[in-house]
Amino acid sequence: QVAEAAAFLKARLASLSPRIGIVLGSGLGAVADAVTGPVVVPYAEIPHFPRSTVEGHMGRIVAGLLGGVPVIMMQGRVHFYEGYSPEEVTFPLRVLGALGIRAVVLTCAAGGIAEGYQVGQLVALGDHINLMGWNPLIGPNEPRFAFWAGAGLRFPDMTEAYSKALRSLAKQAALEEGFALDEGVYLAVSGPSFETPAEIRAFRALGATLVGMSTVSETIVARHMGIEVLGLACVANLAAGLGATALSHQEVFETGRQVEQRLSRLLQRLAPRIAALVDPAKDEEKQP
Ligand code: HPA
Repeated sequence: QVAEAAAFLKARLASLSPRIGIVLGSGLGAVADAVTGPVVVPYAEIPHFPRSTVEGHMGRIVAGLLGGVPVIMMQGRVHFYEGYSPEEVTFPLRVLGALGIRAVVLTCAAGGIAEGYQVGQLVALGDHINLMGWNPLIGPNEPRFAFWAGAGLRFPDMTEAYSKALRSLAKQAALEEGFALDEGVYLAVSGPSFETPAEIRAFRALGATLVGMSTVSETIVARHMGIEVLGLACVANLAAGLGATALSHQEVFETGRQVEQRLSRLLQRLAPRIAALVDPAKDEEKQP
């Protein structure tokens, strides 16, 4: 099924062969507007592809040039809380892997737990804590997804789940854009209910600075395939009990709208540098 979906997309992409994947989270979809020469493919047209049921998630692939280099973007993702199985949630990432991406930028909205976070701030993920209650690799190991050297293991190493090299490129690019990119720890829950204030206090004690309902499953599957990951979270709201108001998807979505232009400029600056880092000339490794 992954192979079928990948073959379908490969035909639609024609001569474009992106080595960078980008997943756009809640309210962040407009980053895709910065893609030039876009090839747009709604998820509904792709064989076996799951469809996003959440407002604020467009549900289409946008491939083309970003900052002059080929990228493939997912405008919208599916989540565990929508009722999708682990396989379904991570299917799109497997397809991007089969298309030959070497690095992926996972963006998401998150609740801010750390003191001092401002709503609308971007934070690079330095690490995560998976409290979703599941792992997308549960089941028989799938070495056929080992697209790069050392990948496809039953017990993938997660010591550097989020690439240090990509993170430092992102911090540098952010400084050039005039803002500082903090580094945080993202704790993932299944949702869809937001957390209680007691849960947030517990998560802070565990070392989390951000909380969200996505991303970690994609990170795990990407690492299983040997793909480098950059995680970028937008602090969409202060986590439960920390702000003055109740939490709502509306707020999450609206913060995203305010941040997406900044994220878009950051990614335009960053894409060519990521491309240089994952230049095919630099790997003697196995390719899909
Ligand atoms: N909690 C969980 N997920 C989220 C939040 C939150 O506060 N904000 C955006 N996504």
